[in-house]
Amino acid sequence: MSETTRTQVLIIGAGPAGLMISQMLHNRGVESVAIDIRTREEIENTHRAGILEAKAVRMLEDENVSQRFRTDGYEHDGTDIRVRGISNRISFKDLVGASVWLYPQTDVFIDLANARERDGGDVRFGVSDVELLDGDSDNPGVRFTDAAGTTQEVRADFVVGSDGSRSICRALIPGATQYFREYPFAWFGIMAEAPMSYDELIYASSDRGFALISQRTPTVQRMYLQCNPSDDMHNWSEDQLWDEFQARVAGPDGFELKTGPIFERTLLPFRSFVQQPMQHGRVSLAGDAAHTVPPTGARGLNLALSDARVLAPRLAEAAKANDPAKLADYEEIAVKRVWRAQNFSYWMTTMLHSLPDENPFDRMRRLGELEMVLGHESGRRHLAEAYAGWPNEVDGL
Ligand code: PHB
Repeated sequence: MSETTRTQVLIIGAGPAGLMISQMLHNRGVESVAIDIRTREEIENTHRAGILEAKAVRMLEDENVSQRFRTDGYEHDGTDIRVRGISNRISFKDLVGASVWLYPQTDVFIDLANARERDGGDVRFGVSDVELLDGDSDNPGVRFTDAAGTTQEVRADFVVGSDGSRSICRALIPGATQYFREYPFAWFGIMAEAPMSYDELIYASSDRGFALISQRTPTVQRMYLQCNPSDDMHNWSEDQLWDEFQARVAGPDGFELKTGPIFERTLLPFRSFVQQPMQHGRVSLAGDAAHTVPPTGARGLNLALSDARVLAPRLAEAAKANDPAKLADYEEIAVKRVWRAQNFSYWMTTMLHSLPDENPFDRMRRLGELEMVLGHESGRRHLAEAYAGWPNEVDGL
């Protein structure tokens, strides 16, 4: 048994970038089919980033996805950067008149998947044997086995590769350059059943390494410890982990974390990646498929949604006219924002983490940099503006 579907836009990868593009195309009268090798449950249970800039949550509202962030999310007017136990509050509100939202990627995904279902979208989760067909033609497509075991072929006028950091769609862009860097550390992430320790996020740089204190709900907390990629903290006891978290945030103000049972542990590698070009003919890349950032600056999901915001309206025009020329400036607009965000993520990462071979000079220089940024208003504003989202005219949005 084999079935063939014809659509206007084929979307490979139904995570937040792909589903947002699908939703935005629907709102503009363009049909799409989205596929993903993961099941919906798998994606819902993969814990990812937690912070959205204000313009990203606004997209959820403007594109008629959901307003759930207003009741289930938390608006944060600032964040705390603790250096060797000394707290430095960065007030996004005071510095740049902005706020961010703690609204986890899994919730963004759930809202998008529900919206696509509600609006009759064609999204096929849990597919396998994905084979890209005729990417460099006027009739690109894909063949796969659907969740019920039937062979499917989908043909479209345009293709979006939003298939994440292990993208197969990258190969559809001939002669592309891949820019890549790894870091000599990783994050060990936990989910814990505990009360919130603080009402905003805490980015803590200590002589024992970095820690991030984030949140999910009043009873579930998300936290990360800098570690060596080869460390096996899966074997650490809960007491050992809590002692390490506490040691990294400890300071003269006596700040103490609220602890509780740890119910999930994951190792997150640190990578920076960009593929250029992001667009060729009828194929466009969006989200992690085109660029990956380390998680320190909370840029990944925001960048993916910004790609959607630039790409979807152009794609809608391109699909209606069946004219790839309408996609022409996607690349130019997106790439500037992508490299700016790469720099911010790299900068936050290297400024807040200690390198395994950091010598005393390196450490003191890094502390000097932190003092330069946190110790006066123009430095704090620079950080706040990047973290809370650059103005639209800077972002090309
Ligand atoms: C998270 O809550 O998972 C989170 C928040 C901020 C980051 C990274 C991760 O920079």
